[in-house]
Amino acid sequence: MSVEERAKMIEKDARWGRIVCRCEHVTEAEVIEALTNPLNARTLASVKYRCRAGMERCQGGFCTQHIVRIMEKHFGMDIKEIKLKSLSSYLFYKRTRGDEQTRGDENE
Ligand code: FES
Repeated sequence: MSVEERAKMIEKDARWGRIVCRCEHVTEAEVIEALTNPLNARTLASVKYRCRAGMERCQGGFCTQHIVRIMEKHFGMDIKEIKLKSLSSYLFYKRTRGDEQTRGDENE
């Protein structure tokens, strides 16, 4: 998108302005679109292959935390149920800091 087109999208929906993947310039809105697919794919790999978040330089070191928060917030997923790719590729065992009430969300 051009800068003007991007500005219009951000004006309509602020999620188009929140960068999730810095190297591929993938926004929160694009991650949500990637997760809102007819196949109901809900893995980090599905996000990676659909919008390229996690595909570049950091290989998920920076962007995974933001994608996980989007999956929790917009799709009501429990962090313990979020998988990398296959049915048994769990990523998280439990939270190590905070709980639902004390956890901050810097994307809001
Ligand atoms: S920030 Fe681009 S791959 Fe993680």
